[in-house]
Amino acid sequence: MKIDVVTLFPGWFEWFTQQRHVQNAQVLGHELDFVDLRASTPLNAGQVDDTPYGGGAGMVMRVDVVEAALRERYGTAPPPHRTIALSPGGRRFDDALATELAAEPALTLLCGRYEGFDERVHEHLATDVVSIGPYVLSGGELAAMVVMDAVMRKLPGVLGHEDSALEESFSEALEGAPEYPHYTRPFDWRGHTVPDVLLSGDHARIREWRLERSRERGRS
Ligand code: ADE
Repeated sequence: MKIDVVTLFPGWFEWFTQQRHVQNAQVLGHELDFVDLRASTPLNAGQVDDTPYGGGAGMVMRVDVVEAALRERYGTAPPPHRTIALSPGGRRFDDALATELAAEPALTLLCGRYEGFDERVHEHLATDVVSIGPYVLSGGELAAMVVMDAVMRKLPGVLGHEDSALEESFSEALEGAPEYPHYTRPFDWRGHTVPDVLLSGDHARIREWRLERSRERGRS
């Protein structure tokens, strides 16, 4: 999979790309790249935003600037693949969308700043507008990292532990519910012991117990 992130702040991603699972993904042949929006702006003095029509506070990121960055990168705008604009007003990101995106051969993530993108970016340059939650971040960069993290850990081999991405919170294997509780040693910690069933060696019973705990958490 190829993921490009279009951003005014490529430096924000330096820490992210040094993390183990992100490096694993790259070793496996997945590609991550960062496109600096300011580098290709057709406007003078690196301008990328402008005042909003109709008045109001803040600045809006210009559609022609985003278009120029995409044309320089892909020779065409919109790009020839799934393109996600990160915005607090978008479709809520969840595990099902992460699974869907993990099956794409290529993704472009557009990170907004200031008051966000001119609406025509959402309408004509992106295929999806995605929000990671009902709060406003200072830009789409952290949201892009959240999306990439959730997507990349679904790529085969990235976690190094094939089963862990399958049966985890909100996955189909757990009927969309949160994950069951986990325990490890010590068996007895300050009088709080591990549920007996987990020591029974009876895998069918353990599986049933885990599914039931997961469903219970999903109801609360
Ligand atoms: N940009 C600013 N806030 C955001 C959010 N909650 N989700 C996605 N992109 C954003």
